[in-house]
Amino acid sequence: MSGASVMESTKALGKLELSPGLAAIGDSASMNKSGQQLLGPQDHAHLNGCVPLSHQVAGHKYGVKKVGILQHPDGTVLKQVQPPPRGPREMQFYSMVFAEDCSDPCLLDLQKHLPKYYGTWSSPDSPNELYLKLEDVTSRFNKPCIMDVKLGRRSYDPLASQEKREQQIRKYPLMEEIGFLILGMRVYDVRSETFNSYNQHYGRALAQDTVKDGLATFFENGVCLRRDAVRASICRVQHILNWFHSQHQLAFYASSLLFVYEGLPSSFTSSSRSSLLIGPSVGDAVVKTAHSVGSGSAGSWTGKQASRVQQQHRGGRFMGQQHLHGSHQSQEGRGHGGTGDAAVEVRMIDFAHVFPSDSLDHGYIYGLKHLLTVHIILTRDNELM
Ligand SMILES: Nc1ncnc2c1ncn2[C@@H]1O[C@H](COP(=O)(O)OP(=O)(O)OP(=O)(O)O)[C@@H](O)[C@H]1O
Ligand SMILES: [Mg+2]
Repeated sequence: MSGASVMESTKALGKLELSPGLAAIGDSASMNKSGQQLLGPQDHAHLNGCVPLSHQVAGHKYGVKKVGILQHPDGTVLKQVQPPPRGPREMQFYSMVFAEDCSDPCLLDLQKHLPKYYGTWSSPDSPNELYLKLEDVTSRFNKPCIMDVKLGRRSYDPLASQEKREQQIRKYPLMEEIGFLILGMRVYDVRSETFNSYNQHYGRALAQDTVKDGLATFFENGVCLRRDAVRASICRVQHILNWFHSQHQLAFYASSLLFVYEGLPSSFTSSSRSSLLIGPSVGDAVVKTAHSVGSGSAGSWTGKQASRVQQQHRGGRFMGQQHLHGSHQSQEGRGHGGTGDAAVEVRMIDFAHVFPSDSLDHGYIYGLKHLLTVHIILTRDNELM
């Protein structure tokens, strides 16, 4: 894939809606979680109205002399191309998957698991600062609850120096055993009507017997566990796992899955209340999930577990049949009014370390299977309560 084929393609964006939360973005752009100074909108005159992404949950934050993630006024996400080799590698990956003349069924199939790619962007004032222009995966949500989960058994790529390998292993020695790591999340609390945020240190403190609590924290809204969202996530992740079983050409290191669900449950509207099962109703006692279950969350995904979950879905016990078809349906659901759709997105992001391969991506598959197992354990534990 030549660099020349990576073209500015803003034409494709004509139909994009403005992100609902956009007006508020500037207000939060002063200090990030780690106390790093961020720029306010007044400092971004040279960025043509682009501002730091307010709902970024992990990764490099935009700031003084810092590369990071921005939001364009048209609602898209701009990810600054990182210094070589990471940035060009990621750019090449996106342009390969979304190439207009792409005819590889495997890559075409992969497109639906990624944010849409709209080419590169740069501000007229700084034409040399290149950004990847991406669909904002959260844009159709009112109160997006977002979790960034790094996948795989190792976070370093085959070209990493010994020093880099050791640094990555030190950061989370359990990566090899657990196969995934929560890098950050924000969760909507329906009682206080605010978001709670968790940074990378939260995820790194999770071990084999508590990693389930991390997921529970993401799916709890202060009143109950959002079982509808857990089950919809299982379907989405299963689709991604199916893709990984179908391909032998790419290996993903230090790549993430971005989970998003609607924090404002549609069960709060009387019309759709009965169509979503989100555990106890709002008036019920708070369901304790995160700390009330024992250990034993480890284990591997089995065909039996998969078919059990699928059967439960097919039986319509948890949600309508229309929710079973992965992200096709959810992408089409832009702007829906919350009429029974367990609105969940699970997309692959962060491709700075994608390499050609000639075998299954066993590390990523291991992480996906474990992540699915933990999701399933979560739903099971809470069925008993
Ligand atoms: N397409 C997107 N839609 C919505 N949010 C996104 C999107 N891409 C990234 N983000 C937000 O930005 C965060 C960081 O993204 P990403 O992992 O791509 O960057 P990074 O980790 O800084 O990159 P790198 O590891 O290449 O330096 C994500 O956790 C997410 O919150
Ligand atoms: Mg990242």
